[in-house]
Amino acid sequence: MGQIKAAITAVNGWVPDYVLTNQELEQMVDTSDEWIMTRTGVKERRILRESGKGTSDIGVETIKGLLEKSGTNPNDIELLICATVSPDFAFPATSAIIADKVGIKNSWSFDINAACSGFLYALNVATKFIEAGTYKKVIVIGAEKMSCMTDYTDRTTCVLFGDGGGAVLLEPTSEKLGVIDSILRTDGSGSFHLYQKGGGSVKPASYRTVIAKEHFIYQEGQQVFKFAVTNMADVSVEIMKRNNLAPKDLNWLVPHQANLRIIEATARRMGINKDQVMINIEKYGNTTSATIPLCLWEWENKLKKGDDLILSAFGGGFTWGAIYVKWAYDS
Ligand code: ACO
Repeated sequence: MGQIKAAITAVNGWVPDYVLTNQELEQMVDTSDEWIMTRTGVKERRILRESGKGTSDIGVETIKGLLEKSGTNPNDIELLICATVSPDFAFPATSAIIADKVGIKNSWSFDINAACSGFLYALNVATKFIEAGTYKKVIVIGAEKMSCMTDYTDRTTCVLFGDGGGAVLLEPTSEKLGVIDSILRTDGSGSFHLYQKGGGSVKPASYRTVIAKEHFIYQEGQQVFKFAVTNMADVSVEIMKRNNLAPKDLNWLVPHQANLRIIEATARRMGINKDQVMINIEKYGNTTSATIPLCLWEWENKLKKGDDLILSAFGGGFTWGAIYVKWAYDS
């Protein structure tokens, strides 16, 4: 028998109903649809507005749909990994809350915090459990309520982020399909270019941190942009080379949706055309760890068994990486 691979056998996504448009943002901060579209490519984003609802509620909708469409019994799931930077609480893990709400009872679960690269990190970890033969059904979800840490008086960040979730089911296959190769990186020297200053152990929440708005996203946009363009492109080119993938052979680049300019620069460096790239940033903005599975969900109908995909991301940490996936089923 050949080596066991981890195949994605189902994908689902979910976004809240409320649409926050650039026109509405024009009423909130000094910005314009033209500026936002030119600099970022975002037209609108979804926001979870109901009070008392958090990231786990996004996760529940996403995973309920995943279980339903794949005909999977929640009791058969053996591991659930949730990538998020917007957990319901500092603890317990959001994955535990999601598992309880959807009735996943025979599993263990944990969260991964790797910002926009979180889905790739989680997918890589889950893959190892499948390849080792330890588990046969693992769910990886990226879910975010980014609106909970977005300052809607700060025009430099509030135009970027949105809420949403995307999840995949991983199962073993003996065919050469699924996750083929991964390159993941971290460089903590970039930590303070993109982070949430307050609410952690260094600066616990207090009236001072609230007044200083330290529970919102802090981002040095240009610094982050510079690192993102270089690293996302480098790692995507590297994974193509070491798997002998010529640009024309690649079916899809599935890039993290942070900024259309970063996506286009990555595609250029890889030598691929725009019609080989999944882009939905105009509809959802940057949903951090959810962008990649949200793309897979939206493009599912176009994907064919054997298609070559490169999933690529860059985010806070700094974290970045690329994963080469051979799609495992005809939709
Ligand atoms: N509307 C109008 N003007 C604006 C806005 C806005 N929404 N935001 C900023 N500006 C102004 C600035 O104040 C500045 O004005 P000034 O020249 O008078 O000072 C001017 O526009 C240019 O600002 P820059 O910051 O230089 O704009 P830039 O072209 O770099 O675009 C952006 C900003 C979109 C944030 C870009 O830097 C970016 O995308 N960075 C990377 C984001 C990213 O990849 N993040 C990683 C993932 S997120 C995660 O991990 C959680």
